[in-house]
Amino acid sequence: MLARLEQLFQNAKTRLGAAEDLEDLNQLRVKMLGRKGEITLLLRGLKDLQAEERARVGKRANEIKAQLEGLIQERAEELQQSQLEKRLKEETIDVTLPGVPLPRGSKHPLTRINEEILQIFTGMGFSVAEGPEVELDYYNFEALNIPKDHSARDMQDSFYIDEDVLLRTHTSPVQVRTMEKMAPRLPVKIVVPGKVYRRDDDATHSPMFQQVEGLLIDRHITFADLKGTLMLFAQEMFGYNVRVRFRPSFFPFTEPSAEMDISCVMCGGSGCRVCSHTGWLEILGSGMVHPNVLRYGGYDPEQVTGFAFGMGVERIAMLKYGINDLRLFFDNDYRFLRQF
Ligand code: PHE
Repeated sequence: MLARLEQLFQNAKTRLGAAEDLEDLNQLRVKMLGRKGEITLLLRGLKDLQAEERARVGKRANEIKAQLEGLIQERAEELQQSQLEKRLKEETIDVTLPGVPLPRGSKHPLTRINEEILQIFTGMGFSVAEGPEVELDYYNFEALNIPKDHSARDMQDSFYIDEDVLLRTHTSPVQVRTMEKMAPRLPVKIVVPGKVYRRDDDATHSPMFQQVEGLLIDRHITFADLKGTLMLFAQEMFGYNVRVRFRPSFFPFTEPSAEMDISCVMCGGSGCRVCSHTGWLEILGSGMVHPNVLRYGGYDPEQVTGFAFGMGVERIAMLKYGINDLRLFFDNDYRFLRQF
């Protein structure tokens, strides 16, 4: 039995040297030392030997097993090392090759217009304020002088969370929210970007769209300030040749109220399809802040006055870039977006 053991040992050593990779080596270990390995099987016969003989063979068997394990380990390290060297020799990296270019993204057109609008107003000293999209009925309507059942609510039908909570229909609620925080400090001079929601959905109306609101409250603010500020905005946005006009309008939270038109950016005012042959394009609503709204915000309408305005960002972007379908902004079509 001992002779057979030595023979298996010699044999294993030879095969070890011949193993070409770690896979080979592992198979070899299983074949020799595994549960059904040659050495393991041979040693099952130990129990039939006489005690003295059994001790001798057993001792030698343990030595051989330990040596084999050691040799396998050594060979494994050798193989790993030579595999690594081989790879290092074969794989050369040319560091002078150009890298793989990643396609470069760009800002969404609405983001760009939004930033441009805010930049124009911050350049005139306005600060940026924000408010929640899920808004209280109180701020969206009541405090803007639109009581329950007022017919002005029809123009701005919304999505209600419950009777007193809704998705805001405009950015105007941030007027009162900001006044409440600021009162009695002056001036209140803010622009408010943000998403708003209405029950509308067609080629020119989306249930979600963006507005920028403006509010300036101080002593002695007049309609002339409103006109001057908004005219400068129009010129910075659309170029210094643009002309503006104000038409009387109605908003419950401003008095008087006006809509501002700019001369058509497509035809320059001579009349075309974009301006419905009027030569003018409506771009925002505005007016002098209603005394009730000042009171709701904590200011005394006998002491201060103010103006406010609100514009749709999508509409301005459509005019500026000559886009004819609002839905393009929300389709996420790369062919559209890559143009900006
Ligand atoms: N909030 C109005 C709208 O969404 C616009 C507006 C803002 C009008 C401020 C006047 C003053 O239509």
